[in-house]
Amino acid sequence: MIRPDDVSGLPLSRPACSLTDKRSDRQEPIISVRGLVNRFGQQVVHDGLDLDVYPGEILGIVGGSGTGKTVLLKSILGLQKATAGKIIFMSDELTSSGAHGPATWGVLFQSGALFSGLTVLENISAPLLEHTRIAAQTVKELALLKMKMVGLPEGACHKFPSELSGGMIKRAALARALAIDPPIIFLDEPTSGLDPIAAEEFDELILYLKNHLELTVVMISHDLDSLFNTCDRIAVLVDKQVIADTPECIRQHPHPWIQRYFGGLRGKLRQQPVRSPDGT
Ligand SMILES: Nc1ncnc2c1ncn2[C@@H]1O[C@H](COP(=O)(O)OP(=O)(O)OP(=O)(O)O)[C@@H](O)[C@H]1O
Ligand SMILES: [Mg+2]
Repeated sequence: MIRPDDVSGLPLSRPACSLTDKRSDRQEPIISVRGLVNRFGQQVVHDGLDLDVYPGEILGIVGGSGTGKTVLLKSILGLQKATAGKIIFMSDELTSSGAHGPATWGVLFQSGALFSGLTVLENISAPLLEHTRIAAQTVKELALLKMKMVGLPEGACHKFPSELSGGMIKRAALARALAIDPPIIFLDEPTSGLDPIAAEEFDELILYLKNHLELTVVMISHDLDSLFNTCDRIAVLVDKQVIADTPECIRQHPHPWIQRYFGGLRGKLRQQPVRSPDGT
């Protein structure tokens, strides 16, 4: 896997920053999006978008507000029917009939989207009850385990979403996304609204889960710290398409929006990735 600090290992025949969505190793992508088009009436959101997601990576998705990040995520998951294009998700081509098998992914939606009438424990248990035949007591134990894994105190298990802080909602939603041990999770703005310390803790949690559960993570984020702390690659949604590469290469991309986004004051403060070479 290419790390932000390891572009020197690329073959000599290839420039350090390819500025395309390619990788030097020959891993098969876990998700391939080809020629994706999404249109709402006259509004074209995606126009021939291509994107690959590789197993075991954390892929960040950035783009201006309203450029179609959430629509892209929903299209990949089959929750929103695309106007045109092909999406291969873990060797299955997504058909027009609907979403992929639910056991293959977990998702943390932008709003958290917890069931407001269910407690934290019931929210985390819900996917297990829906998609498995595990006995009720074991479901409860597994849900408690997931709560612990994401750093939620056991005392939160009987609270309703309206009784949680923003950070707790994100953690509960992450625990629910992890409930069925999917190989891939999708996070839509997981650190938005969190204070910098809580956001950093959340980043550490994502890295820990990725390293220990061998998860593939697709993460939409506006948070530059989060992107540079956690991502192996960054996909930028511009001009209704995607430009994807390592964080270092993306930062050098000449596209004006990318230059402005990463070259602004906040981007300059993040000149160096803080991730250590061993990915921790
Ligand atoms: N079901 C829908 N019907 C009509 N328009 C839609 C629908 N879903 C999304 N859109 C439009 O598509 C565009 C992209 O929406 P999307 O939610 O993907 O943006 P985003 O990049 O996630 O933005 P943000 O950073 O604010 O979350 C928006 O203009 C939105 O109004
Ligand atoms: Mg969005």
